Amino acid sequence: MSNREIGPHTRGTSLFVGDLPDPPGMLHAAVLASTVPHARIVRLDTTPAAEVGGVACVLTAADIPGENQIGGMVQDEPLLAEGEVHFVGQPIAVTVADTPHRAREAARAIVVEYDELAGIFDPRQAAAAGSLIVPSRTFSSGNVDDSWASCKVVVEGRAESGGQEHLYLETQAALVVPQEGRRLRILSSTQAPTAVQRIVARVLGLSMNDLEVDVARLGGAFGGKEDQATPWAAIAALAASILHRPVRIALTRGEDNRMTGKRHPYSSDFKIGLDAEGRILAYEATYYQNAGAAADLSPAILERSLFHATGSYFIPNVRVTAVSCRTNLPPFTAFRGFGAPQAMFVIESAITRAAEIMGIDRRQIQHRNLLAEGDLFPYGQQAQQGNAHRAFDDVFQRFDVAALERDAAEHNRTHALSKRGIAMMPVCFGISFTSTFLNQAAALVHVYTDGSVSVSTGAIEMGQGVNAKILNVAAHALGIDPGRITIETTNTLRVANTSPTAASSGADMNGGATEIACRSIIERLRKVAAEVLDTTADRITVRGDRLMVDDEGCDVTWEQLVSEAYLRRANLSAQAHFATPKIHFDRETEKGEPFSYHVYGSAVVEATVDCLRGTYTIDRVGIVHDAGRSLNPLVDMGQLEGGLVQGIGWMTVEELLFADGHNLTDTLSTYKIPDILSAPKIEGHFLENADNPNAVMRSKAIGEPPLMYGIGAYFALLDAMRAFRPDREAFFNAPMTPERVLMFLHGDRQQATEEDIAEAAAVVQR
Ligand code: MOS
Repeated sequence: MSNREIGPHTRGTSLFVGDLPDPPGMLHAAVLASTVPHARIVRLDTTPAAEVGGVACVLTAADIPGENQIGGMVQDEPLLAEGEVHFVGQPIAVTVADTPHRAREAARAIVVEYDELAGIFDPRQAAAAGSLIVPSRTFSSGNVDDSWASCKVVVEGRAESGGQEHLYLETQAALVVPQEGRRLRILSSTQAPTAVQRIVARVLGLSMNDLEVDVARLGGAFGGKEDQATPWAAIAALAASILHRPVRIALTRGEDNRMTGKRHPYSSDFKIGLDAEGRILAYEATYYQNAGAAADLSPAILERSLFHATGSYFIPNVRVTAVSCRTNLPPFTAFRGFGAPQAMFVIESAITRAAEIMGIDRRQIQHRNLLAEGDLFPYGQQAQQGNAHRAFDDVFQRFDVAALERDAAEHNRTHALSKRGIAMMPVCFGISFTSTFLNQAAALVHVYTDGSVSVSTGAIEMGQGVNAKILNVAAHALGIDPGRITIETTNTLRVANTSPTAASSGADMNGGATEIACRSIIERLRKVAAEVLDTTADRITVRGDRLMVDDEGCDVTWEQLVSEAYLRRANLSAQAHFATPKIHFDRETEKGEPFSYHVYGSAVVEATVDCLRGTYTIDRVGIVHDAGRSLNPLVDMGQLEGGLVQGIGWMTVEELLFADGHNLTDTLSTYKIPDILSAPKIEGHFLENADNPNAVMRSKAIGEPPLMYGIGAYFALLDAMRAFRPDREAFFNAPMTPERVLMFLHGDRQQATEEDIAEAAAVVQR
């Protein structure tokens, strides 16, 4: 990263919403949320709250001047509950007071009486009851039904994967400051400033041009602030507009964990058929997505599950169906990978089960079926690069996987109570929003008369380093030192109609727009230089802060060139728009070319299980990852390592538990994430001679794909456990917590039943 990015971060002077100085007269908002999963509200008495000292107002749905509706894809989510509540944690009323403490005290004083209704928490039960968010969708290719007969082996099974708490360091927060007239300035910790602008306008009955949304940077998001930052901004805006005073809301960790959505839990059925050589001939799966009580982004997430159903493999006959199930849990939402990790866990489970039945190594099945250049995905797009094979083979050789497997076998032979497992995990991830219209971005670049440069885009910096990447793009396109450039806050007055910074596409698209804007400024500067030097523009370039003629440096500096351009009244600002070329998708036929390109890679994961205690370590992970020509190798390595560890957490210790709709894991003492001590030794490499004609400076996106290497941890553990209990069948129920390991190794059942979990939950609740 550049010093401009690193400096404030390492000194702790980067500004988040909570660090901004309090504007004069600022008040604090708190939320009263439902304590039951499904009920009619029979009484709501806010008068005791209004009597708490320091309280400025108490707001309910009746105080909303516009529409009480924050749904984006489906309009099914009120900002504040009206008449009914549908999940524990659903906002019902807002209290505003002079301190956060008094605002919360007031919220607690509100009297609510519920007439409780039956809740549905299980996605399969919801599907059986017809409780769906949107109609189910099916992708198919070839002819699955006719294929089973030609298979040597056909296996069926079930795979479960749990939810995942984002646990961004900065909780959901917004600060709204009323300006002149109706104008509100909204400082929001959001990945989607335009969504905040659109929804706040809808809730307040205003126009989008009444609102300015400004985002400096987020303390993490991981998808959790793509849709779910919006309600908090809307709540603060509602209070600020009614009171004509600045209002801040910042959730506590517990509130955030209880009230906001997480990664979707999935329950899936699979059927896979292979020939005698281990070639996969047919694959069928049904995904029951637990969507929670409102649509949020679930339909889009479900779509990505279908796109990634076959993982890194070519399968000629496929039929996969995804069902988005409405339940009485918080609306589950975007989380790094966006439905793809869930689908990849299912195909890896199917392959593992098939390998077990066939008595062959799962790695052989993986290798035999890897995508090759020209292979068709079930949605009709062709794989463009042979990088799935290159990365897999590179991992195999670089980390001597054959030797690792031999060593593990030797370890397992010589240790009675310690067993080791090795798993390969290939990843293939499509880059572009699957909703084609979202694949656009814009940039606004100003060159000031002293030669310094300011770049605004629609990208949100959330710790992923997108600002550092855009800085590299601008410096390269302008031919000047990055130290001359600042990347500005993301602001809807400077860059309008932004797509969320999501789908791993932030740097690709906003970097693309930045490059176009910088080039148009450079074009104008070259014309000026040609006039000054009495030559032609095609001979002029800018490099290393200097003017070059025929690639030879001349004595004109960047500052002199800019100053001369200004005096000659050239335009030193440029706005540019980027739209990802070529992509299209037809939702009638479920075919098209939805992705600009794919990211590939492979990992090998080594894990050791203590077979007395059920505890384990993920010892080492070796990765070869395709980053194209990396825009910033340090940033990309950080994303590679962070994504991997987050994926390992999802697959191993992060167990999100609900009992009757109550989140039992809403604290850091009950929800465990991997810490530095449990992180494996990571050896990451970028695929050599990687290239990408389809993104800015031939780079590739990196945000989401590395998370899915973490799926290998589940299968490495399973491998080790099966070395201890070869008599037991593999099971696919993530996360693989130490409790599940112990149950498999020593329990009289191989995994906990729903009754066991309910019993354990009851203990936690008491
Ligand atoms: Mo990301 S999970 O596409 O916000």
